[in-house]
Amino acid sequence: MSPRRLRTLEDLGDLFSTTVLVRCDLNVPMEEGRITDDLRIRASVPTLRELLDRGATLVVCSHLGRPRGRVVDELRLDPVAAALGEALGSTVRKVDDVVGPEAKRAVMAASAGSVTLLENLRFDPREEQNDPGFADELASLAEAYVNDAFGAAHRAHASVVGVPRRLPSAAGRLMQREVEVLSRLLEGPDEPFVAILGGAKVADKLGTVNALVQRVDALLVGGAMAFSFLAAAGGEVGRSLVEPDRFDDIRRAVKAAEERGVLVQLPEDVVAAPEASLEAKRQTVPSDAIPRDLMGLDIGPRTVEEFARTIADARTILWNGPMGMFELEPFSAGTRGVAHAVAGATAFSVLGGGDSLAALRKFGLLDSIDHLSTGGGASLEFLEGRELPGIAVLMVEEA
Ligand code: 3PG
Ligand code: MG
Repeated sequence: MSPRRLRTLEDLGDLFSTTVLVRCDLNVPMEEGRITDDLRIRASVPTLRELLDRGATLVVCSHLGRPRGRVVDELRLDPVAAALGEALGSTVRKVDDVVGPEAKRAVMAASAGSVTLLENLRFDPREEQNDPGFADELASLAEAYVNDAFGAAHRAHASVVGVPRRLPSAAGRLMQREVEVLSRLLEGPDEPFVAILGGAKVADKLGTVNALVQRVDALLVGGAMAFSFLAAAGGEVGRSLVEPDRFDDIRRAVKAAEERGVLVQLPEDVVAAPEASLEAKRQTVPSDAIPRDLMGLDIGPRTVEEFARTIADARTILWNGPMGMFELEPFSAGTRGVAHAVAGATAFSVLGGGDSLAALRKFGLLDSIDHLSTGGGASLEFLEGRELPGIAVLMVEEA
C-alpha cells in the first residue's frame, strides 16, 4: 500500500478569483443567544484568512446544535456570523437559507474577496442523510472545497463527505494541525505518555480507554466515570453514578492495561455529598467506602496529589473530561488541582472535550496547554485509531 497523506491548502494551487466552500465547525455553546465559548470560531480564522489572502471568495457553512432537519430559530447562525466577522476582521454576510434560491442568489452576487455564511446546514434534513442531491447543490455554490471542521469529521454528512467527492478539496489548517497532533499521540508520543480521562459517561469513552491502554504508560481516571471503575473493582460507591452494564468491559480494559504494565490510577479519596448542590454538606471519604446515602462528586485531595505526581513525570499528556462537578465551586478543587498540574508540567499537553475546555477557561489556564482540540467526539474517535470519514475523503496517495 502506498503511503497516504492529507491534501492541504497547498494542493489547491492558485485560488485567485476562485469561490471556495469552507466547511467549518462553528458549533459553539450558547446560552440565551450568547456565545459562551468562541474557541471554535477563533480557531477557524487562520484558514479563512489564508484563503482570503490568496484571493478567494468564501462561502462558509456549518451546523449548530441538533435541529434535526427543521428550522429552529434559536439555532440560526446570526450570532455566529457576527462573532466570526469580528474575529476575522471582515464583514461576514449571513444568508437565511442553506442551499435554496436565496443562498444561490447571495453567492452569485457576492463580490470578490467577500465572505458569505450559509444558514445552519442541519435545518435541511438532507445534510445528515448525506443526500447526493443536497451535496450536488452545496457543491454547485463553489469551485473548490476546504474542510476545517475537525469537530464534525466523525459525521458522514453531506457537507463533510459528499461535497469533497464533487470538487477539488483539501483540509484547512485547523484540520491539518488536529490530525498532525493527534497522529503524533497515536504514532510516536514522547514517553511517559499519560492519559487523564474524566467526565460522566463510561459508555462514550470505553473505545478510547481500550485503545489508550495499548499506548499509554499511565491512565488516570477521574470524574463520574471513575465510580464505575471503582464499583467494577468491588468498591462501595454509595449513590454515585455508575453504569453496571459496563463493568465487564471495564474489568477487561483494566486487565489488559495491567498485562501491558500500564499504571491505572483511580481515585483514592473522593468528595461526596447527598446531592449535587451548592448547599449540600460534603465530606472527603475513601473512594472504595463511600457511605450509602452519599454520592461522589469530585476527586479528593490525596488523589490530586497522586495524579499530580504522575503528571509531573509525563512527557506527553492527553486530557479529556473534568475530574468532578467543577461547575459547582464546592466540587471544583479536583479539576482545578489537575489543571494546575497539567499546566505546570513540562510535557506536551493536549486537551479535548467541551467540558474540559470550559473548566480550563474558568481557571484561566487555557494558555498553558500546548494543543486545545476543537473536537470532542471526533478527537476521541480519532484516538481510538478509527478512520474518520471526513478525514478519509481528504486523503491522497503519495505519488
Ligand atoms: C460536536 O460539538 O461534537 C461537533 O460539532 C459535532 O456535533 P454533533 O455531535 O451534534 O454531531
Ligand atoms: Mg458531540
